[in-house]
Amino acid sequence: MKFFIDTANLDQIKEMQELGIIDGVTTNPTLLAKEGAEPTEQLRKICEIVDGPVSGEVIGLTTEEMVKEARELAKIASNIVIKIPFTKDGIKAVNILEPEGIKTNVTLVFSQNQVLIAAKAGASYISPFIGRLMDNGQNEIDFLWECMDILNSYDFKSELIVASVRNTRHVIESAKIGAHIATIPFAVLDKMFKHPNTDQGLEDFLKDWEKLQSKLKK
Ligand code: E4P
Repeated sequence: MKFFIDTANLDQIKEMQELGIIDGVTTNPTLLAKEGAEPTEQLRKICEIVDGPVSGEVIGLTTEEMVKEARELAKIASNIVIKIPFTKDGIKAVNILEPEGIKTNVTLVFSQNQVLIAAKAGASYISPFIGRLMDNGQNEIDFLWECMDILNSYDFKSELIVASVRNTRHVIESAKIGAHIATIPFAVLDKMFKHPNTDQGLEDFLKDWEKLQSKLKK
């Protein structure tokens, strides 16, 4: 299973990259706006840190605008992936960009119908937003099972990126389902490292070790 980090913050990306657990990055207009830097420049800096796929999103709403923007964004680095919102215009853009060798990530996906259509269009990545579904009271884990079932039933090239991850349980459920990728916010990744028993166990081991040392000195 691949881990992407869902942020445009360079320090967060560097910290997780140094731990060797990051396979890629996803950004969106909101995440880039949070950083306040010029978006193209920020994406360029992210691509210098991470070798794997780095998603940057188009803003245009028509196929023509999306394709034009995507071709510009693709010049930033060879690992740029273009996030395209799930609309009819977006799907047309995917049909144009993928054969040109520009990888797409169909975003704002909330239904099995949308997963199937994006896969048929040949998207490299498809991003169902499970946290937002959960916020609306839908069973987001059952939904994920069905999405993976659809992709596994055929020879689609699309990889599923579990997006809008809200907690560590979302990551573990994604792993159990066999999702190709989860894009995880920094805070959730950080929590995955923590367990009170590990901290307590380490503290106890060190205390006992010190006790032994002072006993040996006597
Ligand atoms: C995915 O690619 C999106 O950037 C992200 O996961 C959206 O998450 P949110 O619902 O927390 O905004």
